[in-house]
Amino acid sequence: MTQDELKDAVAAAAIDEIRPHLGNDIVIGVGTGSTANRFIDRLAELRGDFRGAVASSMASAERLRRHGIDLFELNETGSLPLYIDGADEVNAHLQMIKGGGGALTREKIVAACAERFICIADASKKVERLGNFPLPVEVIPMARSYVARELVKLGADPVYRQGVVTDNGNQIIDCFEFVIDDPLTMEARLNAIVGVVTNGLFAARGADVLLLGTAQGVERLLP
Ligand code: A5P
Repeated sequence: MTQDELKDAVAAAAIDEIRPHLGNDIVIGVGTGSTANRFIDRLAELRGDFRGAVASSMASAERLRRHGIDLFELNETGSLPLYIDGADEVNAHLQMIKGGGGALTREKIVAACAERFICIADASKKVERLGNFPLPVEVIPMARSYVARELVKLGADPVYRQGVVTDNGNQIIDCFEFVIDDPLTMEARLNAIVGVVTNGLFAARGADVLLLGTAQGVERLLP
């Protein structure tokens, strides 16, 4: 199976996963990226079975809107029963690196509000140790050089993502060659650097369920 077919399979599995939990009062969190896009396209079939969605990016909001799905602000909804999103890497504890698409801050906020985070990913995303994928760090623009120097001290090779402005008006530094042995500790250390808005390690709040697309079918994994 191709990677695209695996993404389609996990998007379909996510629909089956959430279907029993829907209802007229349910607002669901929806993530960002090519796997999440496939989920959004299938979610359109369930329009009318739930109240609407909170999107983790402007791009996903636009896609949801095009499908006629009502959008809500997170501040209007309070906690969300479900959040469905992809990942760039995910380990056996369902800790992740996210933000390859640049939406890490809003993704982390929506994930924090979600009772259940369902991660959807093709098998290429499953890793023993996080860090092969360059870890994105969103920074306040004036702090970019300072943050980059601090990232070097932590062992990363920071590269400014040229020309990218996040939905929050900030910039992104990608950390290459970063050995992340202890994701929980590293997430906290990165958060403590002045000027960092968010880092793409989802360790303190990982996923609750991983639907992993493999050549043998979709595996449902728990932390
Ligand atoms: C977006 O900022 C990311 O966190 C995505 O969820 C992640 O990059 C996965 O994207 P794909 O589904 O396109 O691989």
